[in-house]
Amino acid sequence: MIDMEDCTFVIFGATGNLSEVKLIPALYGLESAGRLPSGLKIVGFGRREWSDEIWRDKVRSWLGERAGDAEVLERFCQRLFFFRGDLGEESVYPALHDYLLGSGQFSPNLIFYMAIRPADFGVVSRQLGEVGLNREDGGWRRLVIEKPFGYDLESAESLNKRLARDFHERQIFRIDHYLGKGTVQNVLVFRFANLMLEPLWNRNYIDHVQITHSESLGVGGRAGYYDGAGALRDMIQSHLLQLLTLVAMEPPASLDAESLRDEKVKVLRSIRPIPQSAVNAQAFRAQYASGVVDGKKLPGYLEEPDVPKHSVTETYAALKLFIDNWRWRNIPFYLRTGKRMAKSNSMVAIRFKHPPQQLFRETQIEQLKPNWILLNLQPNECIRMEMQVKQQGLELRAETTRLDATYCGINQSQLDAYEALLLDVIEGDHSLFLRYDEVSWAWKVVDPILKVWAMERDFIHTYPSGSWGPPEADRLFVRQSQRWRNTLEDEDP
Ligand SMILES: NC(=O)c1ccc[n+]([C@@H]2O[C@H](COP(=O)([O-])OP(=O)(O)OC[C@H]3O[C@@H](n4cnc5c(N)ncnc54)[C@H](OP(=O)(O)O)[C@@H]3O)[C@@H](O)[C@H]2O)c1
Repeated sequence: MIDMEDCTFVIFGATGNLSEVKLIPALYGLESAGRLPSGLKIVGFGRREWSDEIWRDKVRSWLGERAGDAEVLERFCQRLFFFRGDLGEESVYPALHDYLLGSGQFSPNLIFYMAIRPADFGVVSRQLGEVGLNREDGGWRRLVIEKPFGYDLESAESLNKRLARDFHERQIFRIDHYLGKGTVQNVLVFRFANLMLEPLWNRNYIDHVQITHSESLGVGGRAGYYDGAGALRDMIQSHLLQLLTLVAMEPPASLDAESLRDEKVKVLRSIRPIPQSAVNAQAFRAQYASGVVDGKKLPGYLEEPDVPKHSVTETYAALKLFIDNWRWRNIPFYLRTGKRMAKSNSMVAIRFKHPPQQLFRETQIEQLKPNWILLNLQPNECIRMEMQVKQQGLELRAETTRLDATYCGINQSQLDAYEALLLDVIEGDHSLFLRYDEVSWAWKVVDPILKVWAMERDFIHTYPSGSWGPPEADRLFVRQSQRWRNTLEDEDP
């Protein structure tokens, strides 16, 4: 049900980084767009000695120049309240209950946003349950959590069990900001609003699919988190598998959240399990070494601050998956992500097969290039088709021409992915949030790889910073003619 009622947005971890750089700016963005319900209030929960006024001053300084309009900023600040408390103290929760529901100051529709360590999610949800703040009497209750949703299948299940003890699945919003609304809608419209593509979108015509997310930055100051996670967990288990489901799924019965998520889950369930003995044939990992980028020498992963000396955490991961259903059987899906790569980009590249008849064998066209469809997601949002046309002149030669199906501009919706998602939480729309079975099936896909990589700790391949990753990853390809497509500009070699 879509509603837009007044509500109270409680941020656990209001003083932290996520709150400062993502949540508050997004809520402010919604304020300036006039999209917040008039009675929405934001309660920051934190252990610092802050009053409502200090919290408002902090927010003013966090927003800085972004808050161009003084009137909007003041209206926004009047929505802010601060509740002091330590997450670990049980006595805090009855007080929070009375503060939120006893004073008549706040709407009884409550959103609890967990901008805190994942290890604390369970503790807080339990305490909320203990004092009845989970019960939907007199108003709805929603719980929002950020990835990582567990560390592997087992921990995801245990986290889910803890949350499920006090909150129903329909109350839980698992946020994946990588898939902004624009991207999801783009893929859905492209696939399901164009009849001409549907007959081709299967194993008879498609040779393989590549999904790449590359980042030019290294781990920066996040080594503490990243070294325990690695590229497979950080990007592939969550974001890239989500993209795969959108590209591969059957048309949903409707666009409501459950129909969409049902189809995504079917794809994940159909992915052929990777036995531990096949991990090395289907997955590849590597770590960035030092390299020169824009004339500047950059350190390798092991030289970054806070990275353990002998870490074998992967900063690059590539994976070959097969989806065992009627549409996709035996068509490889290559998923790849890396840090400190040549360029930051996210792209789905779909390569079609060669025409069955080699009609041009006797002509100057020695090797016909295949058709490609490229869906670029970040930083440009663009859909491009590559077709073969005859070159000008008397000889029969072919060249690749590119048809841009959309405006190839900077993806604006990327910038406000959080705004759209927060509005969905306020409106109760689950479509872009992960249901637990999605999370769990995605863990089942990568779990065998994580287990093998955790055991094989002696060696990891490296690639120079600023490159497109290790050439050894090419061994995942099932045919010699297959090559990575890195960016829109890249030619099919
Ligand atoms: N930052 C991002 O861009 C980002 C992106 C994706 C996901 N996430 C996820 O979002 C969550 C928060 O990340 P973050 O980067 O914001 O972390 P952070 O900067 O370390 O913030 C943690 C927050 O938790 C509070 N906190 C910790 N222990 C507490 C206690 N006992 N009582 C009350 N408050 C306590 C901290 O309060 P103090 O200020 O008093 O220490 C701080 O406000 C994590 O789950 C993370 O994985 C973050």
